[in-house]
Amino acid sequence: MLGPVILAASRSDRMRRLISAAPVTKQVVDRFIPGEGVDDIVPVVEDLTAAGLEVTMDVVGEDITRPEQATAARDAYLELIDRLGELELGERAEMSVKLSLFGQALPSPTTALNRGPSGPAARFQGGHELALANVRPVVEAAAAIGTTVTLDAEDHTTLDSMFAIHEELRRDFPQTGCVIQAYLFRTEADARRLAANGSRVRLVKGAYKEPASVAHQQKTEIDKAYVRTLKILMDGEGYPMIGSHDPRLISIAQELAHRAGRKLDEYEFQMLYGIRTDEHHRLAAEGHRMRVYTAYGTDWYGYFMRRLAEKPANLRFFVRSMISK
Ligand code: FDA
Repeated sequence: MLGPVILAASRSDRMRRLISAAPVTKQVVDRFIPGEGVDDIVPVVEDLTAAGLEVTMDVVGEDITRPEQATAARDAYLELIDRLGELELGERAEMSVKLSLFGQALPSPTTALNRGPSGPAARFQGGHELALANVRPVVEAAAAIGTTVTLDAEDHTTLDSMFAIHEELRRDFPQTGCVIQAYLFRTEADARRLAANGSRVRLVKGAYKEPASVAHQQKTEIDKAYVRTLKILMDGEGYPMIGSHDPRLISIAQELAHRAGRKLDEYEFQMLYGIRTDEHHRLAAEGHRMRVYTAYGTDWYGYFMRRLAEKPANLRFFVRSMISK
């Protein structure tokens, strides 16, 4: 029952101020977010890739309130891509972006009309156009160093806009990936559409607090939906990216890939930095592509709180560190 409470706190400014200011927070945060600036993170990327792993890089931040923050986020990614270019890692180091950090949720007088995947002339208000304008140079810069970008999935109200931006970017950059969340009722249909047109799709369980009108609430239902959706992706024509630490789902994924006749380089596993690290190395040693989602930056609150919500033991560890100080 703790998970939903923590997820609600992840959206509270008061809790953000309280937790961000706690002196011990930093050492717990470091387990999941191994750096604040690009100079901290480049050696982390070098270590991970030297160990045979791949990375997807996330500059943390979301729910911004001013357009300048979106521009700053774009510039932070451009700086990172510049530095990654020097390492010549190609697609072994890709980017993950949250469109809310690029301005998607900003109120704006602009209303864009789009013929997006959710139906003819779906309407997107607010920062849809701003997010597209800010993310495009990041996708271009990534392509210029031989890699790509994956659009993270945020709460369900943002997804039509995210898929429309994904479709738009794929016209020029077909490798652009996106994330789908097994807990949402809509996701199997999204998987069918995406698997048929050959895109890179990361499947995750889903990390936001969603109402019962749009999402499964029980773990067993979410896990079953994950397997059904994964089967669609594995049997389709795209490149499935299995974003999970769940041992059962990982072995089911291996079995489904085998049944679909996929070779080891025709799908990949992805896990978060700091979670089940031994498993990262085990899968890589078996010859799998294993990509570590590595977040860095100063605005880590939302990302950190979702990691606490996923595993109550993390919260106990956090609280114990505070008490023992
Ligand atoms: P589950 O939560 O059942 O965990 C399985 C096991 O993994 C646990 O028993 C535990 O051992 C370990 N574990 C999982 N989470 C842990 C944690 N926080 N701390 C310690 N141990 C933990 N979500 C989203 O909504 N949009 C997105 O774009 C993304 N992107 C994304 C990228 C990648 C690469 C991953 C791996 C995950 C995401 N997620 C996400 C998060 C995802 O939706 C989900 O919340 C987490 O992956 C946890 O679910 P699992 O599939 O790992 O299973």
